[in-house]
Order: sequence, then C-alpha cells, then structure tokens
Amino acid sequence: MKLVKQGFKKENIVSYGNMFLLANGRYGYRGTLEEYRKSEMTSLNVLGLYDKYLDKWRESVNLPNPFYVLVKGKNKVYSLLESEPVKHEVSLDITDGVFTRETIYEDIEISSTRFVSSKDKNILGTRYLIKGIKGTELKINLGLDLDIYEINGPHFKEKKCTYEKDLILFTGTTNEGKEVRSYTKINSNKALNSTNLVNDIFGYEINSIIHKDEIIQIDIIHEVKEKEHINDGFDKLVERHIKAFNKLWDNAYLEIIGDKDANFELQYSIYHLLILEDNTSYHSVPARGLSGETYKGAIFWDTEMFMMPFYAFTNPRFARNTLVYRIKTLSGAKKKAEKYGYKGAFYAWESQDDGVEQCSDYNVTDPITNQPIRTYFADKQIHISGDIALAIMRYIFLTSDTSLLYEGGYEVIYEVIKFYDSYLTKKDKYHLNDVMGPDEYHERVNDNAYTNLLFKNVLKLGIEYYDDFIYTVKERTLTKEDLNDILTKLYIVEPNNDGLIEQFEGYFKLEDVTPNIVKARKRNEKDYMGGENGVAGKTRVIKQADVLSLLILLEHPYDLDILRKNYDFYYPYTEHGSSLSASIYSLAASKLNKLDEAYNLFRKSSGIDLGTEQKMYAGGIYIGGTHPASNAGAYLSVLLGFMGLWINKDGYSINPNLPPSIEGIKGKFIHKNKQYLVNVKKDNSYTIREVKQND
Ligand code: BGC
Repeated sequence: MKLVKQGFKKENIVSYGNMFLLANGRYGYRGTLEEYRKSEMTSLNVLGLYDKYLDKWRESVNLPNPFYVLVKGKNKVYSLLESEPVKHEVSLDITDGVFTRETIYEDIEISSTRFVSSKDKNILGTRYLIKGIKGTELKINLGLDLDIYEINGPHFKEKKCTYEKDLILFTGTTNEGKEVRSYTKINSNKALNSTNLVNDIFGYEINSIIHKDEIIQIDIIHEVKEKEHINDGFDKLVERHIKAFNKLWDNAYLEIIGDKDANFELQYSIYHLLILEDNTSYHSVPARGLSGETYKGAIFWDTEMFMMPFYAFTNPRFARNTLVYRIKTLSGAKKKAEKYGYKGAFYAWESQDDGVEQCSDYNVTDPITNQPIRTYFADKQIHISGDIALAIMRYIFLTSDTSLLYEGGYEVIYEVIKFYDSYLTKKDKYHLNDVMGPDEYHERVNDNAYTNLLFKNVLKLGIEYYDDFIYTVKERTLTKEDLNDILTKLYIVEPNNDGLIEQFEGYFKLEDVTPNIVKARKRNEKDYMGGENGVAGKTRVIKQADVLSLLILLEHPYDLDILRKNYDFYYPYTEHGSSLSASIYSLAASKLNKLDEAYNLFRKSSGIDLGTEQKMYAGGIYIGGTHPASNAGAYLSVLLGFMGLWINKDGYSINPNLPPSIEGIKGKFIHKNKQYLVNVKKDNSYTIREVKQND
C-alpha cells in the first residue's frame, strides 16, 4: 500500500516532510529529498536525546543528515529547489516502510530508495541512482550535512568528522555533554574523491560523464553508535528491515472493507504508530512522534490515553515500555510536586528523558507583538498524573500483566493519589480548584468535571489495591481509611436537570457563541485563542473534547441518554483545535448510533497528516509534525467504535455498528495474551476466533 504524490510545490515541503516520515521508534527521518538542507527542515531526529542551549527550551536533538546528495551539470543544478523537472514523484510504501523518489529531468533521471531499519535499530540507508537520458557531464557532492536543522539549537558544541578507512566517522558533544557517534559508509560504482568539509558537507565528490542509459549508483548506509551492521550492504539491510516491519503489521491488522479511502487513512494511521515502536527502549512516544523537535520532543498524556491502548492491542510489550518510562520518571514527578508545594507525584505536562517538567510558563507567543504569553499547562493541567495512573491499570486490564504493578506501578498510583490529596481544597466537600482540564482554552478553573472524576477513578483503584501497597510502597502516609474518607467527600460534577455535566464551575454562564464566531474575532490568523486574553477564554468555545473525554475515557455510571445530551450540547462548541478531540467524539457518535458523524470524525482523525493545510502554529510557535495520538484515536474509533469491541471485567464483548459506507471490518486484537481475529459483515453480524501461532 502506497502514498504517492506527484509534482513539486515549494510550499508543501514541510507538510511532505511529516507525511513521508520514516522512523523505527529510535530515529525519525523526515520525508525530505537528498538535495534539501536545513531550510527545508531536513532532519534525523533521535528519541530520548535532549539538549538545552543557553536559556532556550530544552528539546530533542537532530543529528547531521547523512543522506545529502546534490547533482550538478554543466549549466544546471539538478535540485527541485533550482530546476523544474519534467516529472517528479515521491512515494511511501507504508507496508514496507520504504520511501522512494523519482525525478526526471531532460538529461538525467534521479531516483532513490530510503529506509530506517525496523530490525537493525541504529541503521538507516539510502540508495541513490542517476540514469543518463542524454550523455552529460556531472559533478556530485554528497556526505554528511553538519548544518543541522534545529529549533532551539545549536545543540552540538563540538562536531567532528574524519575519514576512517572507507567510513566517515562523526563525533559530536552536545551542550549537556552527551557524546554522539555515527558512521557513514558510501559505496558507488564511480570513484569517490574525499572533499573534507565544503559548505558544511563532509564527504565526497564524484566527477563523471554519464552516458545514455548508464546508471550511477550511490549506496549510503548510516549507523549510529556502533559499527555492527554497516558492512552488510544495502540489499541485505533493506530486506531485513522490510521483514521486521511486515511482522509489526501482521499483529496490527485492521481493515475497512468497501471504502478504499477510509481504509487507506486507517492503514496510514497504523503506519505512523508502527514506526514509533521499539521494544528495546524504555523511553516513551513523543506527541509529535519522531517528526522533529516540535513540542520539545516531549511526551504528553497523548501516549497514555490514546496510543497506549493501540499498543496494548497490537504489541503489549511496547505498551508496557511506555508505562515503565513513567515509573522510571517518578522522581521527576515528585520533584515537580515539591516545587509547587504539593506532595506525591505531579507528572510533567511535557516530559523528556528524566521526567522533569519542560513545559515553559510562557509556552506560546503573541504573533503580533512577539511577546511571550503566560500559559498554565505545566502548573494547572493536573489531570496528567491521573491519566498515567489510570493507564497503568488499563494496561493490566488489557493484558493481565500484573508484574508492572510490582515493578513500580503501585507506587505511581499511590503517589498520584497523594498528589491529588495535597491539591484538594477541603471544605464540606473536597474540590480540585484552580486547574486546567483537557480543554486548554479555559485556564485556572474550579472543579473540572473530567479531572475530579479521574481522581475518583484512581482513588477507587487505590482503595481496591491498598493491601498490595503495603508490600510495594515504602512510605504510606495515607491509610485506606483516609482514601475512603476522600472518596466520600470528593465533589463530583453530576449531570444537572437537563442531563448536562458542567465542564467546570461557571462554564454554563459563559458567552454562548460558536467556534466560527470566536475565530472571526482573532486579530491575526496565528492568534492564540486560549487564556485570559484569548478570544475563546470567556466563551463556551472549547479547544477539544473535555466532558466528552470524561464520558469516553473514564469509568462512570452515566447511560446513553446522558452521553447523547452532552454530545449534542458540547459538539457545537468544540473547535477540535487539538488533534485529540475528533476521535473522542467519533467514539461517542458510534455509541449514539450517529453513524455518519462517527464516520466523518474518524476521517478527521485518520486523515490528519495527509493534508497540506495542518495547523502549524500556536500563537507564534511552530507546532507542526505528525500526530500519533490522532492516529491512535482513528484506530480506536474503528476497533472500539465501528467494530464495537469493549473490554470488561469478564472479558470482551463485540457490538458492531458500521457506518453506511463501510461494507465490513476485519481485524486482529490481543487481549490477555491471546490474539483474536474478528470479521464483521455489512449487516453487523460477526465471527471471532482465536489466532493460534503459525496460523
Ligand atoms: C492539546 C493537548 C495535547 C498536546 C500534545 C495540545 O494542543 O491541547 O491535549 O496533549 O497538544 O498533542
């Protein structure tokens, strides 16, 4: 299955960079072309390596680009940035995880094939071919591009390249003192002349005449850290990668029948989740995947609440790793709580390798004055801690792997309860005041319904498992009786007489306007809509599902009537300004039998990275990149929504509800170590069977 785009438009370079991304859970290589440089956002992004330069934001690090190639003729530069081609096409084979380009000029044809290995995790490779159409003279420059694209860099205080026999050895030291080493091996059927550093490119030059039908071949293999597989050759390495990548697909199989476009978007979404898997890493998945340095390469609640269930259904081991990451970063969460005067674990809103909060107090800028705007994501979005605790239990529920609880899971849950307890305003009832719910446009609100109920969910788990805490949590200042006491006093926002749950205290009194009206009030297209001075802040317009997140993501006692009333009420106010929003509404719409809406909202999530018009700015800050949580939401909209899979205490149930344009759904999921294959037909009848190994 392939994503193919023809023609070249300069304005699409950035969105294509995301759209054609290759990655393997450790490295991400943007879908750029060999002649591109930092101005085209070419980047080789690394998971888990972060750096801070001066007082700028600490962010993930990009390595030098190993795949730079520029072909020059006598009077022509064969670069899309300089010469118009006769034909140009890029394609991403999402089944194999292979990117190709083909660019035809009058006298030569350039093609390349690229992969980021799913098997040999430190390997990336490109095969670059030039075919003569007419005989002509060529000068080719290639090598490692040391002029790195960075948002808040430079991150390398030292960069050094040397030739080590037939390899280029790169060594770099970040500002934080982390050493990076990589090897690049370039093979060609033409003589390679070493050039040292020219124009920030360290590598080689080829001078050659190319004859009609002659092919110049250049293979570039790049290996980070060690020299383990660099000599294995392009063909063998790409074959190994494809085999490993195909295997990931096999476990994540989910197909929509009878609707080609919807199915393609679903497969494309699954692709973006598979390229982030690395079973050997205990690091988690950043909100923008490995598509660059946006959002500082940080991990948000996106992983626990959206991506983790996808991984639990398709690759439980990796799902586990994302939670182990939270256990390993518990100390960062404790430090954050302490900094704000609370107890327990207040997880970072934007978390990096050590769990220390990276979200700045001024996380967006005013696009007109360029002044930073005070935002409260870090200090008030306290639902992050509960999301993590709940995800741990959800993982156990889906996999029955209780070992995670004894390896720190219980401690996280306990520390999260301790944190909320210290945050409570204790009157007759206990309130969580001065918070921000999932909807980021309304800051510093009291009793956000989602957050309060989330705490109740976690508290109930704490009570249920308290006896296990005794063996696993060393210091327990809260007794089981304390937890029971909090549970009875905790204020829960119940539906009013109209069945509506108020998003937070006073929400219903806000100005009753729709997103379009509010958007028309912006002074500038990039204006930030949230916060005290933002155009949405004093209105009912919300950025993303909030009460609906409560009804879809949390345990609650409310029936479909309450869901319907709240869906109908909140839907017109929801801007879906966050990519996490549409899938929640899609899941709700499926339950409510609003199948056309469920379908359209699913397509909004699944197609998020396929357009060229994505939201690229929040205030003046660049926020472009891929959206794996939206991809996961799209997957869940199909599996849990249309296919109607529901996991409960006794096992699972299936209640399909196919939208009219869909003829059927076939797919696999893993539940408690068993894999099942489901086949849903147009009339919503279905079969299910266990998939045995070697099936
Ligand atoms: C959303 C958050 C989300 C973050 C990262 C923001 O725009 O409001 O809910 O966690 O993006 O995806």
